[in-house]
Amino acid sequence: MSLEKLLAWIPPGHPDEALARQVAFDRLPAHIAVIMDGNGRWAAQRRLPRVEGHRNGIQAVRDTVETAARLGCRVLTLYAFSVENWKRPAAEVRTLMTLLKRYLRLEIETLLRNDIRFRVIGRAEDLSADVRRELDSAVARTADSHGMLFNIALNYGGRAEIVDAARRAVSEGIAAEELDERRFAGLLYTAGQPDPDLLIRTSGEMRVSNFLLWQIAYAEIYVTETLWPDFRRRHLLEAVLAYQKRERRYGGITSSHAAVAT
Ligand code: IPE
Ligand code: IPE
Ligand code: MG
Repeated sequence: MSLEKLLAWIPPGHPDEALARQVAFDRLPAHIAVIMDGNGRWAAQRRLPRVEGHRNGIQAVRDTVETAARLGCRVLTLYAFSVENWKRPAAEVRTLMTLLKRYLRLEIETLLRNDIRFRVIGRAEDLSADVRRELDSAVARTADSHGMLFNIALNYGGRAEIVDAARRAVSEGIAAEELDERRFAGLLYTAGQPDPDLLIRTSGEMRVSNFLLWQIAYAEIYVTETLWPDFRRRHLLEAVLAYQKRERRYGGITSSHAAVAT
C-alpha cells in the first residue's frame, strides 16, 4: 500500500530499507507475475531430494506475497504448477499438492490480515478433491478482501487458457464479429485484471514455459539467477527497481525521440 506499510515491516537500519526508499510508488507495476523456478537445483546443490527444494520454497512465497501486498501491487500471480508438471514423478506431484494444502491452511490468517483476495487460475477441476476443498475454502474466506489480488496458477497452461476462452466464446454464442481483443481477454481466467507489467523468472532460465501467453504481450521480463527458495523481499524490491528503470514503448517511439520525429 505504501512506503510506510513497507517500512513498518522492515527492521530499522536493515539493508532492505534503502531499497524500499528508492521505489517510485506512483509507478508500481499493477500486476507482477512470477515463474517460481529452481527448487530442484537448490536441493541438488545441497545433495537433498528435490522435494526439499519445494519445501524451502514456501518461505519465498510468504515473503513475496507480503512484500507485494505492502508495496501496493494490485495483482500478484505465482506460477505454482503447470499442465506440463504432471510429467514429474508421482511422489513429487503429491508432495507439491500436500505443501500447497499446508501453505493455505497456515497462511490464511496472514492473507486476511493483509486484506489479500485469493484466486486460482488454471484447470482446478482436474485437481484432487482434497486440494480443491482447501482452495475453495481460501477463495471463499478471502472473498471480501479488497487489497491485493493473489492469483495462484495451478494446473495452468497458457495455451489451455486460450483454448478454454475460445470454447467459452462458442458456448456463450458470441458472434465472430463481436470478438475483439478486449472481449477475448474477458473470457480468460484473468478477466477484469490488468495484464502483468513485470514478469519475474527465478533461476536464470530464459523462457516463459507456457505462462500467461496472452497477458504478457508487453510485460517487462526480469530474469534472476537467484533460485526460488532463496528469493526474498530484497529480490522482489530489486526486480521492481529494475522495472522502474525500463522504458516501455508498446511499439511506439520514445518520448525523447518523439520531439525529433515531429
Ligand atoms: C519450480 O522448481 C517448482 C515447480 C515447477 C513446481 P523446479 O522443480 O522446476 O526446479 P528445477 O527447475 O528443477 O531446479
Ligand atoms: C515452470 O517451471 C512451471 C512452474 C514454475 C510452475 P518448469 O520448471 O516446469 O519449466 P521448464 O520445464 O523448465 O520449462
Ligand atoms: Mg524448473
